[in-house]
Amino acid sequence: MDNDILKVLYSKSDIQEACQRLGKEIKSYYGDKVPVVIGVLKGAIFFMTDVIRDTDMYMELDFMDVSSYHGTTQSSGVVELVTDISTDISGRDVLIMEDIVDTGRTLKFLIDTLNDRGASSIKVCTLLDKPSGRVVEASSDFIGFEVPNEFVVGYGLDYEEKYRNLPYIGVLKPEIYTNN
Ligand code: PRP
Ligand code: MN
Ligand code: MG
Repeated sequence: MDNDILKVLYSKSDIQEACQRLGKEIKSYYGDKVPVVIGVLKGAIFFMTDVIRDTDMYMELDFMDVSSYHGTTQSSGVVELVTDISTDISGRDVLIMEDIVDTGRTLKFLIDTLNDRGASSIKVCTLLDKPSGRVVEASSDFIGFEVPNEFVVGYGLDYEEKYRNLPYIGVLKPEIYTNN
């Protein structure tokens, strides 16, 4: 798998440092509140667990599986809700955990959906923010890194459902896309 990577953008220790910083920011923001933390599958799986593991605060966890890239490098433009949360979030403080905000379509869909259900607050924590990719307005409250306009994989992020289990975030060699 490593052979398919052109360059590493964020190493395992860069990511670990960012997760610890974000965990502290989240704990100090929520204080005694008990948020419902929603991990956005599949991309946010590693990021969510790494951020919340050391926070020493009360929280509830749930997961929502949404998809719009279908393994490709381009957003289909349609965000599909594959699996919903089971928590009643009416009147609750919700924290969305994302791996990346690119066009912003996924995040806008999530915020609109959770707002309609009566969440009392919605905050967003994302490992990667790619402002240059934005098509619809969507902003995050807790951000790990601002990324350049490149398609990245690893640490949850996939190309054709693979590379999610790389421990770092990197850019694929161009021939990986062209051979497929
Ligand atoms: C990716 C990523 C974010 C979303 C960001 O998910 O994990 O959820 O796209 O892109 P956007 O800002 O352009 O909407 P994807 O649809 O690939 O599903 P996955 O998490 O299962 O890989
Ligand atoms: Mn995703
Ligand atoms: Mg994907």
